[in-house]
Amino acid sequence: MRWHETGKIKWGAAAVLLALGAGLLGAQKIAWGGTEQARPLQEDRVTELRAEIAHHDELYFKEAAPEISDSDYDRLKRELAALERAHPEWAGPTGMGDDRSGRFPNYVHRQPMLSLDKAYTEAEWRAFHAGVVARLGRKNLTFVVEPKYDGLAISLTYERGVLTRAATRGNGLVGDDVTDNVRTIAMLPQQLRRAAADGTPSSIPNLLELRGEVYVDDAEFARLNAARVAEGVEPFAHPRNLAAGTLKSQDRAELASRRLSIVIYSWGAWEDGAVPTTQQAFHAQVRAWGLPGVGKFEVVTSAGDGWRAIQSFGRTRTQLGFPIDGAVVKIDGVALRSHLGQSDHAPRWAIAYKFEPERIVTRVRAITIQVGRTGLLTPVAELESVKLGGTSIARATLHNREVLARRDIRVGDFVEIEKAGEIIPAIAAVLLERRPEGTRRYEFPERCPACGSAVESKPGETAVRCPNFHCPAQLRRRLEHFASAAAVGIRGLGPAMIGILVREGLVKAPSDFYRLRPADLDGVDGIGPKVAERLLDAIERSKQAELWRYIYGLGIPRIGAANARKLAQACGSLEAFAAMGKEQVVAIVGIAAADSLVEFLTRPENRAELEALQALVARWKLAGSAP
Ligand code: IVH
Repeated sequence: MRWHETGKIKWGAAAVLLALGAGLLGAQKIAWGGTEQARPLQEDRVTELRAEIAHHDELYFKEAAPEISDSDYDRLKRELAALERAHPEWAGPTGMGDDRSGRFPNYVHRQPMLSLDKAYTEAEWRAFHAGVVARLGRKNLTFVVEPKYDGLAISLTYERGVLTRAATRGNGLVGDDVTDNVRTIAMLPQQLRRAAADGTPSSIPNLLELRGEVYVDDAEFARLNAARVAEGVEPFAHPRNLAAGTLKSQDRAELASRRLSIVIYSWGAWEDGAVPTTQQAFHAQVRAWGLPGVGKFEVVTSAGDGWRAIQSFGRTRTQLGFPIDGAVVKIDGVALRSHLGQSDHAPRWAIAYKFEPERIVTRVRAITIQVGRTGLLTPVAELESVKLGGTSIARATLHNREVLARRDIRVGDFVEIEKAGEIIPAIAAVLLERRPEGTRRYEFPERCPACGSAVESKPGETAVRCPNFHCPAQLRRRLEHFASAAAVGIRGLGPAMIGILVREGLVKAPSDFYRLRPADLDGVDGIGPKVAERLLDAIERSKQAELWRYIYGLGIPRIGAANARKLAQACGSLEAFAAMGKEQVVAIVGIAAADSLVEFLTRPENRAELEALQALVARWKLAGSAP
């Protein structure tokens, strides 16, 4: 994880006081070195870089929503570090990361949470190795190569074997106390095991700070994004943002609905107990305590083998089942670590090798607007098709109006495509130097491209929506969702058939499916008699679908399958569902989803639709019917 690689903080009491008193971030961000005279260009670049880095830190740490890729960010940091090395006289405070959100109490780490120096090339790795060999004056050194988990760093305090605190890194000295949220992570034991699985007793120090990473594994990331797409909301772009956002969430229901994972890879304070003598012994101890440790690591004894192990993690990264953005190499012997010591921000006994994300250059053919089921307008870059990571890519999300305006991506631009978090294609960079003459800034439409309604956005929200419930694009999407196998499941009712029914004006809402009669389909272009019969049969059969499928099929933002099940369980009929009060809804689905549901239920057209469905499907009674 990126952090103040060029920070000039000295760990110690003064820094702790500064961090607690003025707020280290605030103090660090005081404009530095502003002389009034004309300054050399390079010095201006330093100021510019600091401002830019501070801006990205803010997005990354506070909003967990970066707008540039990690490698671009690291490039900025390296450029600044190089300029500062060349001109120590300019080396004032740098825009230093701080992940504290201001919503949790502060927690002062007993031992600072350091960052790691980074390597990006084989040469940089070899230089690190050579440096360690030279400093220690010996060649036969053992290193452990571990995955570099891509999540949010966490420090867990165990007192006499019991988990008492969990905190984020914050500024390295003081973090957010997220103990309650960490306790919801199912795979994390609250208590250390006193004996290993084979019966060997495990000694437990009086006080222990264990360091690790909270992350979202690949399966959970895919599961949550599939649900979001089905709910009509934009999928998460990166599992790291998702882990950070969830860990800092104050919404209980949201926390409960996302399965976070955790891994322990290092330690801070270790009081009154035998500190492990090697990293390998540490890993074994972590396992013996019953904690989730680093499952796959390699032990190497030369720079060449180290490089092979790093590359091997790079090759297999997509098959590990969890997100990684590099490999961390640590010297195995703990005694050797104290010989090497640390710089002001990172230990000299470890290095993080960061993988370059796979990227490719292509061109933006067009920018189109996709209208979602809930009216959400998503700008999409239509690309000249290219292959990336084994799949062919012809479209990339441009997120929303604000991101598109800020990044100023234009039709005709050459862009670098990268798979964000290895999953969703995103535009990593615009190659401005190759921008053709005559391109124009994209004007986000003020009217829905499907129905012409004036678009709307709520204050403080980036989402732009088409407010017209009857918009044909929204309607088609809503109907597709309702009929899909994930919802009510009407066979034969795919996008093409729905397109025909909407075109003919036969269906304007899900309830209209149940009003269809053979005569309505008679002679309709594209629907033969056999097809019509099968379709009506399938519609009739769908009346047997469970109540939750209907609730889910309504496509209410944030009411996914899990929430729909809970709601169905609680109400037993669509009538009772329509009559639910806010308090009851909050208790079932949590605040965020409740707002969306209550808004849905207050709209008269939605209430009318629920009534119609209840009457036409006529299967649920007010009470006692199976949900
Ligand atoms: S060791 C003293 N091991 O990467 C440093 N860090 O960029 C202790 N990370 O701050 C960290 N996987 O948040 C270590 N196997 C691993 C890691 C790892 C991910 C993160 C961690 C660290 C950052 C450095």
